[in-house]
Amino acid sequence: MDIIQDSQQERDVQLEHQKLVKALGSWTRTHDCGSLNADDLQAEVCLMGWVQFRRDHGGLIFVDLRDRAGLTQVVFIPEVAPQAHENAHVLRSEYVLALKGYVRRRPEGMENPNLATGAIEVVVREWKLLNTSRTPAFLIDDRQDPAENLKLEYRYLDLRRPRMAANLRDRHRMAQSVRRYLDESGFIEVETPMLTRSTPEGARDFLVPSRLNHGEFYALPQSPQLFKQLLMMGGLDKYFQVARCFRDEDLRADRQLEFTQIDIEMSFVDEEQVMSMAEGLAARLFKDVKGIDIPRPFPRMTWDTAMADYGVDKPDTRFDLKLVDVTDIVHGGGFKLFASAELVKAVRVPGGETLSRKEIDDYTEFVKIYGAQGLAWIKIRKPENGEGVEWQSPVAKFLSEAERQGLTERLGLAAGDIVFFQAGEAGMVNAALGNLRLRLGADLGLIDNDALNFLWVTDFPMFEYDKEEKRYVACHHPFTQMQADGLTDINPATVKARAYDMVLNGNEVGGGSIRNHTAEMQRGTFKALGFDPEEAESQFGFLLRALEYGAPPHGGIAFGLDRLAMLLTGSTSIREVIAFPKTQKGTCLLTSAPAQVAPRLLRDLGLKLREKE
Ligand code: AMO
Ligand code: AMP
Repeated sequence: MDIIQDSQQERDVQLEHQKLVKALGSWTRTHDCGSLNADDLQAEVCLMGWVQFRRDHGGLIFVDLRDRAGLTQVVFIPEVAPQAHENAHVLRSEYVLALKGYVRRRPEGMENPNLATGAIEVVVREWKLLNTSRTPAFLIDDRQDPAENLKLEYRYLDLRRPRMAANLRDRHRMAQSVRRYLDESGFIEVETPMLTRSTPEGARDFLVPSRLNHGEFYALPQSPQLFKQLLMMGGLDKYFQVARCFRDEDLRADRQLEFTQIDIEMSFVDEEQVMSMAEGLAARLFKDVKGIDIPRPFPRMTWDTAMADYGVDKPDTRFDLKLVDVTDIVHGGGFKLFASAELVKAVRVPGGETLSRKEIDDYTEFVKIYGAQGLAWIKIRKPENGEGVEWQSPVAKFLSEAERQGLTERLGLAAGDIVFFQAGEAGMVNAALGNLRLRLGADLGLIDNDALNFLWVTDFPMFEYDKEEKRYVACHHPFTQMQADGLTDINPATVKARAYDMVLNGNEVGGGSIRNHTAEMQRGTFKALGFDPEEAESQFGFLLRALEYGAPPHGGIAFGLDRLAMLLTGSTSIREVIAFPKTQKGTCLLTSAPAQVAPRLLRDLGLKLREKE
């Protein structure tokens, strides 16, 4: 039961109890509830916290008192303090109280081994009520998992749960660890503007209308990219910032509209120095917060290999199931779908022959998310008579003996396997099979949940073709240096970037690049992107000019702090490590943002709302 509705009667009781609320007076807390232990036996203590639970037992009243450190049992004994005991009958869940008393060992047989403070209890001498509480919408208990909308509406109650408190504490320790590491390595923390010009990081901007300059807008930064480069041109040499970024994009479990980057930039470096510093940072984080040693250097994989073997640019290398290109084997063959497809790939699942029809149908539906029309499959089984193998499949009949032979060899097929095939346009095939691979890994229990597989993905394409806009856009961002000897004859379809991503267990936790540090290089990239020189000048004139005044070679990286915190705390959503996150629809259920504003505010900004279309 999540929702406990408080009735009018309960509200009346609470109003009555409000009259009992006292001021803190001169009382000072001496201990945290959750950290009392046997060393404190006999100590006189003053505790403050919330009532987790009240039990009345044979003339005694027990309360589990909670603060951010945990729970401790307190007991009201009529013989010790008659008035304190009598008054304790008003206590309800989430009432706030202060008490003075002494610590004693719990009577034999009454210890609670499941509680850190389970060997002791506090006998109350006097107490005061600091505040009452309405009946909370859900129990403050990690064993409860209330609906997320309810948790977000009452986030302050959700944050009282030990798990949430622990998440925020771990996140704090991560940020401290990062600051220590970077400070020790000579980096300087600099704040950059929130009200700025739009930077092309690939998402939509959040715009802020200017009152002083009607018709003009600031953009909230998608990242501090240009400012950190300008700091290098300013001679800072090593910069970092725990920076808020804003991107108006569709939300997922690992994305928010506003999120935090550990943003870093360095001068006089190439890929090796940036990557080595970044590995040091990641390793330090896991050591400081989790006590885990991460082996270095991290493995590296080119983007081409990642796409070929895993179908995605952030491979989860905790399990195998690699994708295999079989285009050459089935081209021009008997199965129409395969015969002329741009790309045909397969994933062989050892032991998958036992998958049911229903499971295969589910996977077929799953790949449709990625634009697939269907999902071809072949089961390899031992026939009844035990000789050779038999292919069971809706498509096997279209395959010639040579094709079967080719597939058997290339895929290493054996009895007990199932093979899934995807044929079509390369992007779709990789996305469909790459994501199917991840789903299979999870469903078949192939993933070692304790593993921490860090990986660098390098040599990204510089550009990708945007079908909607019918032009090339930068894969990382347009300030990244191309891997090219000169600036002429650039083929945007094939040129690679000096960019790298750090991947952890299939999540992109950081990304960066070596930048263009001459105006010529930067103009070359704008040209390859199809900007005419005037357009480049009007949008990025300030950058081009700065590059003409002795900009040092530089590069950097940004980590997604929220994503790292999600992985480090073992959370399934980024919302679990953000104090006040937004829903998938971009709303804040606690404050009801976004909201309408008074017409006067719009007038001041020179804005007028149109009717909804
Ligand atoms: P990039 O766009 O790759 O690079 O972002 C860096 C890292 O930020 C995290 N991230 C996000 N986290 C939560 N919600 C989001 N919407 C979101 N978007 C990105 C990811 C990602 O790896 N300026 C460049 C960095 C550079 O070149 O130095 C940049 O922002 O973990
Ligand atoms: P059909 O001939 O359309 O019945 O398809 C035969 C099999 O191919 C079915 O199992 C489909 O799910 C599968 N299939 C359809 N489109 C694709 C595709 N693009 N790649 C791989 N298999 C597909």
